[in-house]
Amino acid sequence: MVASVDAVNQRSAPQPNARLLKTVKLGAGSQHEKEIHRIAMAPLTRFRNTPGTQAPTDLAVTYYQQRASPKGLLINEATFVSSEAGGYPTAPGIHSEEQVAAWKKVTDAVHAKGGYIYLQAWALGRANAGQDEGVETVAPSPIGLKDHPVPREMTTQDIDNFVKAYGEAAENALKAGFDGIELHGANGYLVNQFLESVSNKRTDDYGGDWQGRSKFLFRVLDAIINVFGQERTGVRLSPWGRFQDMLEEDPYATYIPVVQELVKRYPKFGYVHFVEPRNWTGMPETKYPKEGIFESNDPLRAIIRGVDFSSYPTPSDYAKTNPSFEDPTSERPTVILSAAGHDAENVEEFVERTGDVAAIGRYFIANPDLPERIFKGYPVRKYDRSTFYSPGPVGYIDQPTYQEEHVGKWVENAAVQP
Ligand SMILES: Cc1cc2nc3c(=O)[nH]c(=O)nc-3n(C[C@H](O)[C@H](O)[C@H](O)COP(=O)(O)O)c2cc1C
Repeated sequence: MVASVDAVNQRSAPQPNARLLKTVKLGAGSQHEKEIHRIAMAPLTRFRNTPGTQAPTDLAVTYYQQRASPKGLLINEATFVSSEAGGYPTAPGIHSEEQVAAWKKVTDAVHAKGGYIYLQAWALGRANAGQDEGVETVAPSPIGLKDHPVPREMTTQDIDNFVKAYGEAAENALKAGFDGIELHGANGYLVNQFLESVSNKRTDDYGGDWQGRSKFLFRVLDAIINVFGQERTGVRLSPWGRFQDMLEEDPYATYIPVVQELVKRYPKFGYVHFVEPRNWTGMPETKYPKEGIFESNDPLRAIIRGVDFSSYPTPSDYAKTNPSFEDPTSERPTVILSAAGHDAENVEEFVERTGDVAAIGRYFIANPDLPERIFKGYPVRKYDRSTFYSPGPVGYIDQPTYQEEHVGKWVENAAVQP
């Protein structure tokens, strides 16, 4: 059977001297320095873990191994730091011995192919829809999402418990062989709910101005760094995300000082992973952000790379210049990852300008050998949304590499045949 190839992504190989083909150092200058290539796998929830134990299965070992490549960075699917952090029965955890043992099989399989894997540390907060009756929905403020329970406002004791859980999850991730941790601070989950005023109306130390709203983020990062060190810690941020009723009226007013504080506190921080300002959920545009704001992560890139844009009247004015950026250096080693909307056609130009590592989600689902396809100019297969979250092997471990398609060994839906 002929594989479906996305015609949009039929293109030639990148220019031989393209930045896309040059590796970058993660944790430069540290004992954990790693050379990685420019196509990472974005974190992708697939809802295929064992109900009850919430441990990954042997199918997950195959899935991640298929997507590993020499010098390739994978970020695993968002993983609950404790049972209180959860609420989706088939999403994974990293808080039991069984889960640690199962993840160890995954990390070993990735390392055997010369790749790296980070754990994305997750807590749902108000996004907990109550599917798992044992897990109470808690959040910074009692502001519910549609069709979700109204969350109970977290006490300072709850906050302390969560911070501790992130630290314990980091210890477990280390035992499970992960190369680092990416704190999930994006897409409307717990850390993001603290950061943005739309979901944080607290009047104590954890609310109010950006300093109060980022206090939880920095406490959690401290707990993770305590285990992995700055060099092996990353954070995902979505300043422009509208998913789950998020978005600041002026995202720059929060995210500029937060990123400034991040680089000041942690000069050797591993990476910041930005979700690009693109509405990947396909949700209708909202009234935010405030008129006149040009949506871009470039001002945040500038802060990380040490570029001064204070001569521009506003961050938007600077962003409109479409600036380009240097690679990380040993003085400023923090790598920038960027996700949302990258494909085989546009990624070369994007990486050329920004120097980022492109994290790709949906195309990695359908193309286990995506980096090789992009680096060599092979066609890229279109993904099938209907199997993103369906249980079992279909759309999960049955996706062909270019070589498999080419030598004709691959049969569509073979994984479902008895
Ligand atoms: C099936 C699916 C699952 C996802 N799961 C996660 C997740 O666990 N954590 C996360 O931060 N983002 C998650 N995302 C967002 C992706 O990491 C990525 O930002 C998004 O798909 C846009 O990138 P793309 O255009 O390359 O797909 C998910 C997206 C999809 C499509």
